Amino acid sequence: MSTSFNPGKGEGQPVGVAVLGMGTVGTDVIRLMQENADAFEARIGGPLALKGVAVSDLDKPRPGVDPALLTDDAHALVERDDVDIVVEVIGGIDYPRELVLKALKAGKSVVTANKALVAAHADELAAAADEQNVDLYFEAAVAAAIPVVGMLRRSLAGDQINRIFGIVNGTTNFILDAMATTGASYEDALAEATRLGYAEADPTADVEGHDAASKAAILASLGFHSRVKFNDVHCEGITQISADDITAAAKAGYTIKLLAICERLTNEDGSEQVSARVHPTLIPSSHPLASVSKSFNAIYVDAEAAGSLMFYGNGAGGAPTASAVLGDLVGAARNKVHGGRAPGENTYANLPVADFGDVPTRYHIDMQVKDRVGVLADLATRFADAGISLRTVRQEEVERHEHARLILVTHQAPESALAGMVERLSELDDVQQVTSVIRLDG
Ligand code: NDP
Ligand code: HSE
Repeated sequence: MSTSFNPGKGEGQPVGVAVLGMGTVGTDVIRLMQENADAFEARIGGPLALKGVAVSDLDKPRPGVDPALLTDDAHALVERDDVDIVVEVIGGIDYPRELVLKALKAGKSVVTANKALVAAHADELAAAADEQNVDLYFEAAVAAAIPVVGMLRRSLAGDQINRIFGIVNGTTNFILDAMATTGASYEDALAEATRLGYAEADPTADVEGHDAASKAAILASLGFHSRVKFNDVHCEGITQISADDITAAAKAGYTIKLLAICERLTNEDGSEQVSARVHPTLIPSSHPLASVSKSFNAIYVDAEAAGSLMFYGNGAGGAPTASAVLGDLVGAARNKVHGGRAPGENTYANLPVADFGDVPTRYHIDMQVKDRVGVLADLATRFADAGISLRTVRQEEVERHEHARLILVTHQAPESALAGMVERLSELDDVQQVTSVIRLDG
């Protein structure tokens, strides 16, 4: 890591900015940068000067942007001498990785909203930034407008984080909320989230949980000072959640949310591990996360000294994301003018990532069983034999009494024990159907 002091250009000097991408986010970044130019100059100590905008289609109309600034050669733009800061809002992994590395190696600071890139390549990017003594900012990569990255990097740098969990994907929250509150179909809700600019260019990343998993990797890395990558995160999306699941959950007093859960785990010998996972989760409908609607995000942080903190706000969309990008841009530009660097990566704790099978979880199991005497006792014994304790068992009346509906809620047990139990249940004669298995929190 380079330790030389970055002296800065000096008060009043313009800071050259290149913006890569002018879609949902890039358009609002450029608009707000231009609308607030005077305020930004005052906050930075020198004016921001837009030097170029890289796009893929030069023929698209780009109102409010001087056509002379547009280019489809992003590689050349990031290396230009008059560019001090590169804002990457293209998306994807391989192509922006090339551009961001090239920019950092050329001594430009980088601001990116790209969680997929950061979750896959943070080590390499941070090393390149350190090498050149420049900044790498990515506030917008997690929960758009909610300043959770800065909060973990700076405000909570003096505390120990034990758990970070919450709703970090606006698109899936929008879909689940619409299905639950208006009865919208999954397809219609996804189309609307896409129209509103919340979804990724390929919304599979949202609905399969990959976007939330990237964010979980970033949060866990920052919170636990350990490198957690996208591939370390257990990830399940919402594509298997049906309207029936949502209705049944509501009847039982629960709401289904796609949660990212990052935890510090202590082993029996006192050593520590971290876990990061994303999956649909039942939470009591009285829990504050249950009332997070539309594309809003909310994140809880449990810290040793601070206690429990909750952050809530716009988790997707052009202007909210641009707010976070511009906050980073102002920070990076100040450092260009006055010298110094933002806090960088610190993975000193280097905690290993726990195997998902060892992570304690709880299951809510809804199933149909034969309506015969002793079936409940038999199932309870099987759970006990597997070392899984049941918290509640509810039997519901069903029409014509051909079978019984059983709803079991377990206490915490290792994920592998619970998953193994469900597999064995499905093979039992008494069990006609395991209708749904959803993890439960709170
Ligand atoms: P869009 O798909 O709306 O915009 C992508 C932009 O990148 C377009 O302007 C496109 O050009 C440009 N582009 C694509 N390929 C190239 C290329 N090869 N060279 C130059 N430009 C290219 O994406 P978003 O604005 O929604 O998202 C951008 C980033 O921000 C992503 O990483 C996303 O994850 C992240 N993000 C998005 C949020 C959101 O709510 N949308 C919230 C938080 C983060 P053209 O206009 O010519 O098609
Ligand atoms: N597609 C993302 C979401 C954008 O829906 O949350 C914000 O990161």
